[in-house]
Amino acid sequence: MDDRLIRFDVKTNKSGSLVPLESLKNIPFDIKRVFYIYGVDPEKKRGQHTQKTLKEVVVCLRGKCKIRLEDATGEKTFELDRPDTGLYIGPMVWREMSDFSSDCILLAVADQLYDEKDYVRDYQEYRKVAGLHG
Ligand code: TYD
Repeated sequence: MDDRLIRFDVKTNKSGSLVPLESLKNIPFDIKRVFYIYGVDPEKKRGQHTQKTLKEVVVCLRGKCKIRLEDATGEKTFELDRPDTGLYIGPMVWREMSDFSSDCILLAVADQLYDEKDYVRDYQEYRKVAGLHG
């Protein structure tokens, strides 16, 4: 899996902290879209899909949540709970977000505009497309 945690350089001064996210600097692609998720029921899961070509970095700006990633090479669960750390998710990785704290704000930056055609939302279809068996 091509996933990786990216620790951002935090600009902290007497009045607080700031984290710049910049295309092809601390974000490994050209940013074309930004979105954020909040107000998620802690009992509910989100994601449960892959995107065939999208590159994404997610950052938990407040609170915490878990992100489980899976592809042909294995699976991994990350607990995101710091605004200075992003998780890179490459193409064709199945992702499932869960265990959201009620104050969680999850920011995502992506290299493409929203395109439903890039999604695979059916897990069995994903396994087939990704060459996973069993
Ligand atoms: P969805 O992909 O189901 O969210 P999650 O991965 O968090 O479970 O998206 C929820 C809705 O929002 C769905 O109708 C598609 C829409 N959407 C956009 O319009 N633009 C976007 O950039 C994203 C990510 C989703």
